[in-house]
Amino acid sequence: MTLAELKAEALECQACPLSKLGRRQVVFGVGSEKADLMFVGEAPGYWEDVQGEPFVGPAGKLLTKMINSIGLDRSDVYITNVVKCRPPENRDPEPEEVSICVPRYLNKQIEIIKPRVIVALGNHATKALLGKSTGITLLRGKKFHASNYYIFPTYHPAAILRNANLLSVFAEDFQTLKEILKEEPPKEPAQLSLF
Ligand code: URA
Repeated sequence: MTLAELKAEALECQACPLSKLGRRQVVFGVGSEKADLMFVGEAPGYWEDVQGEPFVGPAGKLLTKMINSIGLDRSDVYITNVVKCRPPENRDPEPEEVSICVPRYLNKQIEIIKPRVIVALGNHATKALLGKSTGITLLRGKKFHASNYYIFPTYHPAAILRNANLLSVFAEDFQTLKEILKEEPPKEPAQLSLF
């Protein structure tokens, strides 16, 4: 399946309650199909729901600045969210919505794009990708080997907009990310053969 085919399917999606709770449109993802680096946020907010593109509001502007700070452009990376539809009043996505959406779309986006590093922005993305509920403060800035890519949790840019004291750590994480991107991509764990 191509990314375009998956997107066409997503744009018509009625699989979870978010499809009936006032979304304007499905916000699938944006960027390079061949990206080494993928960013995963939580869910589209107001501006993303209006424009049909992830991270275009104030948090998105900060994310774009940080991407630029490591010498990359939005078009070099791929940006998406755990769930593809805006939850009403920007509430957190419900576990049921996440468990329906992630296998249908996020996991397949990862399979098709094959990024080397996936940045999990904030607690929701970290939980969806790592399966850990440990808070972002403990997990941020570390890389986790998953299959043939790394997961790298950091703060959600909206958290930085709420608390400017976190900006220096956030900027540090992007410098760590720049170094990780220079490393060899992680290899698939060796298959255990019984014969
Ligand atoms: N916050 C997110 O998690 N995702 C977006 O696309 C925008 C804001």
